[in-house]
Amino acid sequence: MKLSINGADVEVDDRHAKTPLLWVLRDVVGLHGTKYGCGAGFCAACTVLIDGRNTKSCQTATERAVGKVVTTVEGAAGPAVDAVRNAWYQGNVVQCGYCQPGQTLAAVALLEADPAPDDAKIDTWMSGNLCRCATYPRIRAAIHAAAHTLTNGAEPVPLVAPDEIDDRRLTPEELLDPVHPYIRIRPDGTIIAYSSQVEMGQGIHTGLATIVAEELDADFASVRVVNAANGRGPNGDVYGNPDLGSAFQLTGASNSMKGLWVRYRLAAAQARARLAAAAAEAWEVPADQVEVNNGVLRHGSGRQARFGELAARAEQLPVPDGVRPKDAADYKLIGREGRLRVDAVPKILGTTHYTIDQSLPGMLTAVVLHPPRFGATVASLDDQAALAEPGVTAVVPIEEGVAVVAETLADAQRGLRALVVAWDDTNAERRSSVELLAEHIRLLESGESAVTARDDGDVDRALTGAASTVDATYTLPYLSHAPMEPNNAACRMREDGVLEVWVGTEAPEYVKMNASSIAGIDKEQVEVHITFAGGSFGLHSSAEHDPTAEAVQVARALGWKHPIKLQSLREEEFKVGRYRAMAVHRVRAGADADGRLTAWHQQIVAAPTSVNLPFVRDVMFTNGVDFFTTTGAVDPPYAVENFRLESTNFESPIPTMVWRSVGNSHTEFARESAIDELAIASGRDPVDLRRELLAESPRTLRALELAAESSGWGSALPAGRARGITSSGFLGSSANVTEISLDDRGRVHVDRIVFALDCGRNVNPDLIRAQVEGGLLWGLSAAAWGEVVLGDGGDIVTQNFDTYPVMRMRSVPRIEIHLIDSTEPPSGVGEVSVPSVAPALANAIAALTGTRIRRLPFSKTIKVY
Ligand code: FES
Ligand code: FES
Repeated sequence: MKLSINGADVEVDDRHAKTPLLWVLRDVVGLHGTKYGCGAGFCAACTVLIDGRNTKSCQTATERAVGKVVTTVEGAAGPAVDAVRNAWYQGNVVQCGYCQPGQTLAAVALLEADPAPDDAKIDTWMSGNLCRCATYPRIRAAIHAAAHTLTNGAEPVPLVAPDEIDDRRLTPEELLDPVHPYIRIRPDGTIIAYSSQVEMGQGIHTGLATIVAEELDADFASVRVVNAANGRGPNGDVYGNPDLGSAFQLTGASNSMKGLWVRYRLAAAQARARLAAAAAEAWEVPADQVEVNNGVLRHGSGRQARFGELAARAEQLPVPDGVRPKDAADYKLIGREGRLRVDAVPKILGTTHYTIDQSLPGMLTAVVLHPPRFGATVASLDDQAALAEPGVTAVVPIEEGVAVVAETLADAQRGLRALVVAWDDTNAERRSSVELLAEHIRLLESGESAVTARDDGDVDRALTGAASTVDATYTLPYLSHAPMEPNNAACRMREDGVLEVWVGTEAPEYVKMNASSIAGIDKEQVEVHITFAGGSFGLHSSAEHDPTAEAVQVARALGWKHPIKLQSLREEEFKVGRYRAMAVHRVRAGADADGRLTAWHQQIVAAPTSVNLPFVRDVMFTNGVDFFTTTGAVDPPYAVENFRLESTNFESPIPTMVWRSVGNSHTEFARESAIDELAIASGRDPVDLRRELLAESPRTLRALELAAESSGWGSALPAGRARGITSSGFLGSSANVTEISLDDRGRVHVDRIVFALDCGRNVNPDLIRAQVEGGLLWGLSAAAWGEVVLGDGGDIVTQNFDTYPVMRMRSVPRIEIHLIDSTEPPSGVGEVSVPSVAPALANAIAALTGTRIRRLPFSKTIKVY
């Protein structure tokens, strides 16, 4: 069978005639820019152009492409392509980037069909392309910008991918140096920053490049950033997370910028001082007479050198004493607009290397069939039909299920479908979601196994004496992270006994632990290569049910003869769990005759999440209280004299995991809904009540005032519209005003979200706005439609984006973000806006309809468009 791909004739074996074109492109032709997201036509990550039309390659049998012109992201070219790519780059569109090859090709096809599309046309055309980072507002703006470029006849220059940089293992000597593990300068002047924090879309590489360029006084464009790993030296892990005592490397809790802010500013300042010392030594002048600017060292005598010329000499020198980072008054980059993401171009061009793209000589692909119910195990296995499938080389029972190993993903998938497995349900979770929720509520009402997390004043007396009260129960479902790149891992045992693992992990230490214990080797014999993650949102911080464990089990079972790529199928990933826990809250609150909050009693029932995270649980799970369950409830931004919080840990075989915004993803729904209910019950304006409660939290109060003012809070809205408000001290200080309307079919439209944020110093304002936008849309997606369903007998019903609907372009509201100037150290922004959305929407719906919705997702009660 002959195909025309990117202008070349490609011969493909006829046995692939019925194989989806996606897998022939990826596994046979070796073009990895086209991505797999769902395999079922729901996400369009696999978009290619066939005869110029955007086409889902996972839904196209390869034989149907014969006689047609196939264009993938690697081969796309022309004015529309360049206009789209430049608009994407200039608009800071990409985050994790995984969906973007498909998005850009869809946009190119749109502009070929309609050179000047309006918003409605863009929304309709692009709503097939999912982006779990929710870059939709920027995609919409970028398509307008590209259309403008094309209609003006401008000829944008093609984007060019930079060369790849090796994340080589550091030597013991390098690990001891204060600068080398973090920053190296090549002779050509390229500055390489080794990021302890994995880039999974949150923009930390660009934040790091900004800090490094600032403190080095370097050209921002000369800084390249790579994910670093394997930094354990005699003095501990040089990439250890400072918020965890630098004990081990972990990206999470939105603390990346907070940690980098201290470590990398100092390292870059030290590197700069060493360069100045090297220049002084070479020119025989005092070091304090050497000026540094934009990557060039100068002396008044006229001598000058670029960084690269003196880098090798500088690395041999000790770091001068007393080096300190700059004063903020001297910043040229930090806090300024205009930084474009350093990881954007490869992501736009489809050359970024994700785990799914890992390829090694002799590598085989494995997929795993997981049990249909959590906790079930294999009772019997008939693998004959699977092994008879062309390309299938082995079937391997592993702890998590049954792995099928094959030459290509499509072969493995056919083998998986041919497996005949009977499952042993002895230890399986047989309860449905409805039954599980009922059990949560039973525990809540009985108080069984409840542990007191906080108890101030006399809550019972205050409630008894209250003039107005609220007693409300809020319920939230299991949620999936469902990043666009399903979870993958690859591994290879080298001849020297070192096990290499490639994975886009947030926690390389857990990878080493799992891999070494399965392989029976020392932890330090595991080398982790951290790939870019196609989204994560907490999923890749898992220590349990990790794809690395599956990959290493398969490789071990096959005698380490082959490198193994373990690739998750979307439906299998849903069956692995690691969900945001189901949660039930009851809040009893009371106010006095003046409407002042006097009593707050909250109970929570949820599965504890921190217990799945070694080391973390040592500090986060104490005296039976899981901080990850209670955060946002135990530490509200509001001052309440009489306060009690009780928490019950729900037990089930269903694996749970931190999920973007962790406990706040549910605690804020209960807290901010109940505050609103109390304001209504006591006849107060919700802003006035919060203002009073925030008297001792000036930063959150300021955010509240700014959001209220910017949204026009208190001004009349046209009939059929209403607003809801929330405030929060989670990570930063923030407030959300959400404006909604009802259409004539009774559907809620979220029209506008105004979000005010104080996240400390705004290192890169546009990237902060991008994260806040993505977080708001992530939160809206979950609040409106998000729910993982277990059916009768515990069967996992939710298995793809048809049964787990997520935000699409057509539902994106107008978003206005107001950043507050601050001189405080920066705090994280990837999660900060997520928890605000559900309660702000509930409060708006209550204001508009008089109906209080206490059960998520909202679509259980009312349609959300
Ligand atoms: S639509 Fe093809 S991978 Fe999702
Ligand atoms: S940028 Fe679209 S899924 Fe991450």
